[in-house]
Amino acid sequence: METRIRPAGVKDAFDEALRLLASGDVVGVPTETVYGLAGDATRGEAVARIFEAKGRPSFNPLIAHVDDLAMARRIAVLDDVAEGLAERFWPGPLTMVLPLAEHSPVHPLATAGLPTVAVRMPSGTMRSLVQALGRPLAAPSANRSGRVSPTTALHVKTSLEGRVPLVLDAGPCAVGLESTIVQIAEDAIRLLRPGAVTAENLQHVTGFPVRVGGDGNIVAPGQLSSHYAPSGRVRLDVSHVEAGEYLIAFGPRRIAGEEGAAGRIDLSPSGDLREAASALFAALSQFDDPTITRIAVAPIPHEGLGVAINDRLARAAAPRAREDNR
Ligand code: TXA
Ligand code: MG
Repeated sequence: METRIRPAGVKDAFDEALRLLASGDVVGVPTETVYGLAGDATRGEAVARIFEAKGRPSFNPLIAHVDDLAMARRIAVLDDVAEGLAERFWPGPLTMVLPLAEHSPVHPLATAGLPTVAVRMPSGTMRSLVQALGRPLAAPSANRSGRVSPTTALHVKTSLEGRVPLVLDAGPCAVGLESTIVQIAEDAIRLLRPGAVTAENLQHVTGFPVRVGGDGNIVAPGQLSSHYAPSGRVRLDVSHVEAGEYLIAFGPRRIAGEEGAAGRIDLSPSGDLREAASALFAALSQFDDPTITRIAVAPIPHEGLGVAINDRLARAAAPRAREDNR
């Protein structure tokens, strides 16, 4: 697959991007901050494709891009402070980490299973695509994992050649720096990532003090550890299921003792890693039940998306540092 660059302003190019997104594929899309690698935030396999294309060894939570306040309120809960920030800074380079709305359509793979979701209303092409699609777009910066964020369509093509079919080109990004990320705490605005909307701006609009970094209950970007670990003990890479264990299965291969499992979820009966990534957080959540004390996980191949799946499973299996920090 060759990665094609097409002008965002040409209707036929925009429509092609829309068709790709509607079919669950990913597209490089300009925003005012940096280029994003966009996919339908409500579809697990579209989100899995984003991680696959980026080659990220872990599942970071992604920003859900919305086109208006109504969509923001469908996916997240905005309190008065959040509403005020939205009114002043959206559309624009501000992302708010907010509690997930009840029945939020954002797929758990996009939030890495967290009870919060990062929401941003961008301007320009990304917003138009969200509006045309009618669903939020998940989009991390459109670079390979570990590289700098791209501010031109050519950067995206260079970084992701062959991994994304299309990049829409709207010229260099106006801001050129990733969005400011905030979370609203009881008595302060927590600045999780600095950006074009400054601490002074935030303080001025809300009248709240701005503190840099998260507090003990807030997860700062890149610091996610054992979130969404089930309460039971988790054994990985099992070759034999013990009687009474709950099994997270993968692929057509049977495992010895499987018939004695007390329960079973198959991440992907056919052994498809994209399908497995999409099913992973729902499986961990379903087995996060006080009556389930022992969970066995089938071997997952350590390649492609399997690396990120195994990373998340290893965190689920790690002893929890703080029982209340979930
Ligand atoms: O300007 C931007 O924000 C660009 C454009 C494309 O919108 N996007 C971007 O996404 O920079 P990304 O994935 O490269 O960075 C998003 C950051 C990550 O560090 C992630 O950990 C954090 O946001 N994040 C997302 N959801 C979160 C959550 N629920 N809690 C805490 N941090 C979160
Ligand atoms: Mg990034």
